[in-house]
Amino acid sequence: MTDHARVEYDGQTFEAPIVVGTEQERGLDVSKLRGSTGLITYDPGYANTGSARSAITFIDGDAGILRYRGYPIEPLAEQSSFIETSYLLIHGELPTREQLRGFRDQITHHTLLREDMRPLFDAFPPDAHPMAILSAATSGLSTFYQDHYDPLDPADVEVSTYRLMAKLPTVAAWSYKKSIGQPYVYPQNALGYAENFLHMMFAVPAEDYHVDPELTNALTQLLILHADHEQNASTSTVRLVGSTHVNIYAAIAAGISALWGPRHGGANQEVIQMLEEIAAAEGNTASFIARAKDRNDPFRLMGFGHRVYKNYDPRAKIIKNTADTVINKLVGDDPLFEVARELEEAALQDDYFIEKKLYPNVDFYSGLIYRAMGLPLNMFPVLFALGRLPGWVAQWKEMIEDSETRIGRPRQIYVGPTERDYVPISQRS
Ligand code: ACO
Repeated sequence: MTDHARVEYDGQTFEAPIVVGTEQERGLDVSKLRGSTGLITYDPGYANTGSARSAITFIDGDAGILRYRGYPIEPLAEQSSFIETSYLLIHGELPTREQLRGFRDQITHHTLLREDMRPLFDAFPPDAHPMAILSAATSGLSTFYQDHYDPLDPADVEVSTYRLMAKLPTVAAWSYKKSIGQPYVYPQNALGYAENFLHMMFAVPAEDYHVDPELTNALTQLLILHADHEQNASTSTVRLVGSTHVNIYAAIAAGISALWGPRHGGANQEVIQMLEEIAAAEGNTASFIARAKDRNDPFRLMGFGHRVYKNYDPRAKIIKNTADTVINKLVGDDPLFEVARELEEAALQDDYFIEKKLYPNVDFYSGLIYRAMGLPLNMFPVLFALGRLPGWVAQWKEMIEDSETRIGRPRQIYVGPTERDYVPISQRS
């Protein structure tokens, strides 16, 4: 294969080198295109644009493969802990026992929020969306740690990473407590990461609360499965905002806002609403599948299809099994889980879904687990954000350490009015 491609334009030839990745993905390097030809590329939604060379996550959407730092997602979901997976994503290698102990200790000992942050939670109205509180409080962390937030100082980056990983579960749980009018529960450092989060979510000061280990395991697995997914909208947001050299808290807060959107982190809520609608229609899956296939009907099967995966989303496979265990234990017979399984079976045998390669994605079963745990719909994206945090940190760090990084600043094709004369207000009707 040749190592460059040629663009012929207006009598000029531009030779674009081909960039090759370790999995043989190929891209056209157009970084010198504008300087040489005056042309820019036009790619709405950046669907054909590689914004970075990244060594963090590899996805093969046709084969249904997801790997973090080369390790397939399946053994990580089965055998790793969220802290270990976070270390792997952020530092590039699995930790030694000592490195893992050190990383865990640091995160465990930064879980408390500064007491003067409490009024921030109190200030929000009771029906505030927890994602708004999460984003505001994450940005607010930068006000407390101004002396240690230089993005170009590795020591500051290290301590900011510990602080973010440690404090985000506390912020998330407090945003939930605020929304249901219960007292905030302080972190307990004797508990593991997921266990501590569940404790802060569901304990009340009036009685003892023991976290169910099966719930802890299920949550740990969900966090691992959501931990990174290369250059998606929220990660690209973190990178772009971070490229301005703002502090990492501000960059992560921007990522949380991007994730909040229903086209990104919000789809699992819509799955639940769709399943409820089908259950209310007495489980008539056939009519919903017919609607999803009808070009004149905007309805789509939520939790089906993916921009990258044209095969079963490897995360969905694992989550389906976990949903089975958790729902059986906590709910017993869940009519919505039943509807989901019937819907999947019917869709996977339908020619429309087969031809278009539409399979269940990560959101199809995850919401059912959160629901069985007793979480309200508006907390679903918050759980997604907790899982995605180490991926955002790893991608931000890779961006800040990359000598090729420039401030993110796309160009445009201007289609507005050409130059015209200003007309004073006295001369306008
Ligand atoms: N139900 C019915 N038809 C579908 C579905 C679906 N869920 N998904 C895609 N299609 C059809 C489209 O109508 C289109 O048909 P056409 O070629 O006849 O026009 C074809 O499949 C390709 O779909 P696109 O929308 O072009 O694919 P794209 O890659 O742009 O979109 C997306 C992917 C947004 C995920 C889409 O499959 C979808 O809307 N799914 C439902 C929402 C959802 O589950 N989102 C969560 C994604 S995972 C995540 O973000 C964490």
